[in-house]
Amino acid sequence: MISRSDKKEKIVIVVGARPNIMKAAPLMRELIASRHFTPVLIHTGQHYDMKMSDVFFKDLNLQKPNVCLGIAYGTHAEQTGKVMIALESELVHKKPKLVMVVGDVNSTLASALTAKKLQIPLAHVEAGLRSYDKTMPEEVNRVLTDHISDYLFVTEKSGMMNLRKEGINVKKTYLVGNTMIDTLRGNLLAIKRIKVRKKFGLEMKGYAVLTLHRPANVDSKKNFRSILKALATIQKELPIIFPVHPRTLKQIKALGLKRAFQHMKNMVLIEPLGYLEFTSLVSEARMVLTDSGGLQEETTELNIPCVTMLETTERPITIKQGTNVIAGNDANKIIYKARKILSSKTRKKAVIQYWDGKAAKRIVKILENEKNINRHTNL
Ligand code: UD1
Repeated sequence: MISRSDKKEKIVIVVGARPNIMKAAPLMRELIASRHFTPVLIHTGQHYDMKMSDVFFKDLNLQKPNVCLGIAYGTHAEQTGKVMIALESELVHKKPKLVMVVGDVNSTLASALTAKKLQIPLAHVEAGLRSYDKTMPEEVNRVLTDHISDYLFVTEKSGMMNLRKEGINVKKTYLVGNTMIDTLRGNLLAIKRIKVRKKFGLEMKGYAVLTLHRPANVDSKKNFRSILKALATIQKELPIIFPVHPRTLKQIKALGLKRAFQHMKNMVLIEPLGYLEFTSLVSEARMVLTDSGGLQEETTELNIPCVTMLETTERPITIKQGTNVIAGNDANKIIYKARKILSSKTRKKAVIQYWDGKAAKRIVKILENEKNINRHTNL
């Protein structure tokens, strides 16, 4: 056991972008309940729109961040650098026992680097995932964060194997499950109750949900057009509802693609939704078309077929046991995979080890049992 005084030790959890919030919420709850730790929640501000951030705190009953760094706009380097500068002084002041980062966004890497340079022990939640495609900013963030982390909490077996292959000491790695699935399971009743599809006049299993925001898909006109070509065909066979990410909205305007959407009669563009509303929509859909990482896992848990418009996935368990298929951004491939889903029956739900709603509990327990958590700290 960690040597303890009566005072609880601080653990800083950093969130920045929308998907971080779902991953951090159960960890916050467990840390609040812990006899040994107390959480300090820091929001970098990477996602700042109400629809990309605040509504998630409300939906997940999550306390407001203790600190907001307000780092909103910028290139990758600007975002990363500004988060590092602002976070450094917070960490020096707060002297946490450990810094916990989640996922793979720019805020994750920036916070990991800052903690490590201050020699504060670092935990990465969702470690080990690999697409082996370094053109994805998330892959760079994941690999670098893992290689400087002291505690690597892994969601699926492939992650454990990847870390071993990269020579990371196995004693630092723990297969614990998925805190995003903790959040999904914990909110399932509320998600089932709200039936958001009715608000949009959609039938049970009578529509597809689309999400699209990756630079590889929406920053290139050629790739974006190719996806649009597929969507134009699919929406004739199944209505599509599309909560549009702010990055994508900007690109639709910048690339002059508004008209292509206007020509699709069964495509409904809406603003980004909150967590409960969005997951409700997904849970009653016939299929999901996406380039998101987390949604591949959520559809696996909800047993909803998913066509992933990326060349590869860092979450292979969703392919092996789940409902996910990879289509890239080739129009014919996307149409082929979507039609295949439309003509097939629903399969049995997969059971994935440790995706049982208790991942955050496991993580906090491991940290509580850790004998020498402060071995690197010189604050
Ligand atoms: C980020 C993550 C990505 C994740 C996604 C989830 C990185 C490198 N990427 O991508 O892995 O899947 O979040 O949503 O960290 N914007 C707004 N309002 C906001 C947030 C962003 O208008 O609240 C605009 C920004 O000004 C920018 C664009 O959207 O022009 C992109 O935002 P950014 O945070 O850089 O990356 P995302 O594309 O959201």
